[in-house]
Amino acid sequence: MKKSYYVTTPIYYVNDVPHIGHAYTTIATDVMARFKRWTNHEVFFLTGTDEHGQKVEKAAKEKGRTPKSLADEMVKRFQELWKRLDITNNHFVRTTDDYHARVVQEFFSRLLESGDIYLGEYEGWYCTPCETYWLEDELGEGMICPDCGRPTERLKEPSYFFKLSKYQEPLLKFYQENPEFVRPQSRMNEIVSFVSGGLNDISISRTNFSWGIPVPGDPKHVIYVWFDALFNYLSGLGYGWNNERYQQFWPADVHFIGKDILRFHAVFWPAFLMAAGMPLPKRVFAHGWWTVEGRKMSKSLRNVVDPHLLIDLYGADALRYFLLREVSFGFDGDFSHRAMAHRVNGDLANDLGNLFYRSLSMEMKYFKGEIPQPSGRDQEISSLAEAVVKDVVELMEMQEFKKSLERIWDLVKAINKYIDTKAPWQLAKEKREQELKDTIYTMLEGCRVIALLISPFMPNKAQEMWKQLGMEGSILERSVDDTAWGGLPAGQKVKKGDPLFPRIDEEKMVAKVEKMLAKAEKGEVKAEKKEAKAKEKVAKRADGLIDISEFAKVKLVVALIEKAERVPKSEKLVKLQVDVGTDRRTIVAGIGKDYSPEELVGKRVIVVANLKPAKLMGIESKGMLIAAVTKEGVRLPIIPEDVPPGTEVH
Ligand code: ME8
Ligand code: MG
Repeated sequence: MKKSYYVTTPIYYVNDVPHIGHAYTTIATDVMARFKRWTNHEVFFLTGTDEHGQKVEKAAKEKGRTPKSLADEMVKRFQELWKRLDITNNHFVRTTDDYHARVVQEFFSRLLESGDIYLGEYEGWYCTPCETYWLEDELGEGMICPDCGRPTERLKEPSYFFKLSKYQEPLLKFYQENPEFVRPQSRMNEIVSFVSGGLNDISISRTNFSWGIPVPGDPKHVIYVWFDALFNYLSGLGYGWNNERYQQFWPADVHFIGKDILRFHAVFWPAFLMAAGMPLPKRVFAHGWWTVEGRKMSKSLRNVVDPHLLIDLYGADALRYFLLREVSFGFDGDFSHRAMAHRVNGDLANDLGNLFYRSLSMEMKYFKGEIPQPSGRDQEISSLAEAVVKDVVELMEMQEFKKSLERIWDLVKAINKYIDTKAPWQLAKEKREQELKDTIYTMLEGCRVIALLISPFMPNKAQEMWKQLGMEGSILERSVDDTAWGGLPAGQKVKKGDPLFPRIDEEKMVAKVEKMLAKAEKGEVKAEKKEAKAKEKVAKRADGLIDISEFAKVKLVVALIEKAERVPKSEKLVKLQVDVGTDRRTIVAGIGKDYSPEELVGKRVIVVANLKPAKLMGIESKGMLIAAVTKEGVRLPIIPEDVPPGTEVH
């Protein structure tokens, strides 16, 4: 019976195209998955996309399309990239998949029943035009919306809450008993201190937009995107629709994530699972953050490190190698083309590529392609190979990708040195036949072990080595057991090919990249200008003058209030039915503190009739009242009774 192993990536938002950050997490997870298969585990590897929520809804709206059609397109982009990077996920979960929604609703209902979810009131700063809640410290001076620059208002709405506060002690106990739950260690400390500081219950439903999974039995609410998203780790595995698989693989061995989303994974997620009585994942690994050419990754800088471009320039295997070799997993790093080219030329072309190329060349020269019969095993190289395999297996247990590669390169370097010391050309000259056979065999057998060791990291190059050594079939079906010294059969024919890693002209590459960077900078300047212009516009709106044509865009009419009622759970809001001459419509107005519904009915007011409709507390409001806003409250202007509804105001 093989041991089971379950690894995941985050599910990525579909409001953005995949970039090097996404590629990084997915590559690391893939290497882990491949490595575990290689050490005889039955592996389930899950990735996917996070498709609900306001962010995605908004991105779709800006592009004039439905969220689902945007998601469908973006999913393709992710899947194409994963294919080019040789990602071996066993399933791709989408939060818009049916089975996923069912699982999320099942857990929501379960926690509602147990009392860990309850209906309360969410209060926050709301920007009506943007339909977004903001945190106080996200707002500009004067409680201005950071997106559009207009004033926000304090709003309350009914919302379901998760009793996170109840799980403070259980979580702390869990961390104490599982000190390696979060890796690296520094991140574990961060989480412990955060939770020790106390936990508030969290709002897990929204009524101000609709792109999400409805709360069972209360479809005005959609489930908060993070409650939705985290359950992908269960739904994507098969919980509720492939229970055999779920039984086999749950709990997850490692959730790979970036440090940006650690709290969701190390606090919320285990708390949700505890509440549901489920086993908890064994580890959350939060890796570090990539910058690009020394700078924060901006939209235009991203083009310079577009994963497709990097694959075109360096190849998928070299990219996989670079990302895991350049920085210690868990630390921040900087991607630069110079560093990338340097690694390709140094570690890959010089160390590994050259070792392999000259080993095969000498073999061809002295033995015409037929692998010679050694007299025994070379003690030094064979025992180093064994030690390296053992160490790498241990290091990978702790997700030490960089150290693992360094250890493998100990073997690469040792064999290069071995060749220099043994000097096969000298042995040939002196006709020391058996010694020459032994040396060439050791070189090639060492390369075979190296190919096996790198196969989780660089599957294509490993296969290429395998083939050139004359080995049959796919190296990917081999395992750590095949590293046992002597697996290369004497008499087998090698098939020497091209060098594994062509050298890169570093200066040329850097010049090329510099051009791209300059272009990106121009793009950035352009974007900055655009942003400045937009800000200027907002500033003008705040205190500048407008011309008459701008004013003429606003359609002000007299309206008659026919019905008025309070909006439940709101102090300020009243729902009005008004006659605007051309039609009757609903307007939600924030005048409830100063006017009772009774005194409003029959009143004439001035409304902005051509305002874009907005949803307030789940009610669509088509227009806005004009009123004087003082410190003491709101005062409506007086319109004489002989003015009929629909009369224009200029
Ligand atoms: O957060 N450096 O999705 P997301 C390193 N949908 N890694 C980076 C990176 C960078 N500069 N930028 C992004 C979400 N990443 C949620 C997750 S999971 C239940 C829901 C990687 O599209 C890193 O793994 O914003 C980070 O955690 C993830 O992309 C965020 O992806
Ligand atoms: Mg993000």
